[in-house]
Amino acid sequence: MTREELIGINAGIVKTVSANLIKHSPNTIIIVVSNPMDTMTYLVHKTTGLPKNRIIGMGGALDSARFKYRLAEALGAPISDVEGMVIGGHSDTGMVPLIGKAVRNSVSVSEFLSEERMQQVVEETKVGGATLTKLLGTSAWYAPGAAVSAMVQAIACDTKKIFPCSALLAGEFGLSDLAIGVPCVLGANGIEKIVEISLSDVEKTKLAESAEGVKKTNSLLEF
Ligand code: LAC
Repeated sequence: MTREELIGINAGIVKTVSANLIKHSPNTIIIVVSNPMDTMTYLVHKTTGLPKNRIIGMGGALDSARFKYRLAEALGAPISDVEGMVIGGHSDTGMVPLIGKAVRNSVSVSEFLSEERMQQVVEETKVGGATLTKLLGTSAWYAPGAAVSAMVQAIACDTKKIFPCSALLAGEFGLSDLAIGVPCVLGANGIEKIVEISLSDVEKTKLAESAEGVKKTNSLLEF
């Protein structure tokens, strides 16, 4: 099956499922997990007409968990001491792990790791899903479920926790008319705020390149 055919099949399922969700639960908040996730999130925005805060793509929470795991491994530190975030598209070429902002107990990881080791962490993070798929035939085991559940908890308990989520952008980060991973405050209303953190020039370029890739995939959709 070609990638285009697979996207067409997933798009059909995502459209049917989201239409039925809204029919039976008009106040729903939809968390999209199907791949290509950013494109499927965009499709739900385009086809349901739900307010944009109520359609959220899951990718960044999972990719950030993998990033933190790889950072902790490289640092020889417990994950609870590590903070890090992955923005951009949920794909091995689109992910933008924000290594320059990653910290171990408030201290930049660059104080502990060489440039080369940091780049290795970034590369391992980007192929996290693909590595599992190679080993197991799928990556859809515990981790995506755990990531969705953390997002659901933030919404159900109105915690206002920040997760990188695939959100529909309208000018934020200089991008529009696509859904892509950016930091979002999650609470009872779904995406309560897109947090426009400052990015370095390198991070901005990587996010823009990632957005180009997502838009190219979006162009395969038929509405
Ligand atoms: C992954 C799939 C769920 O990253 O996209 O594991």
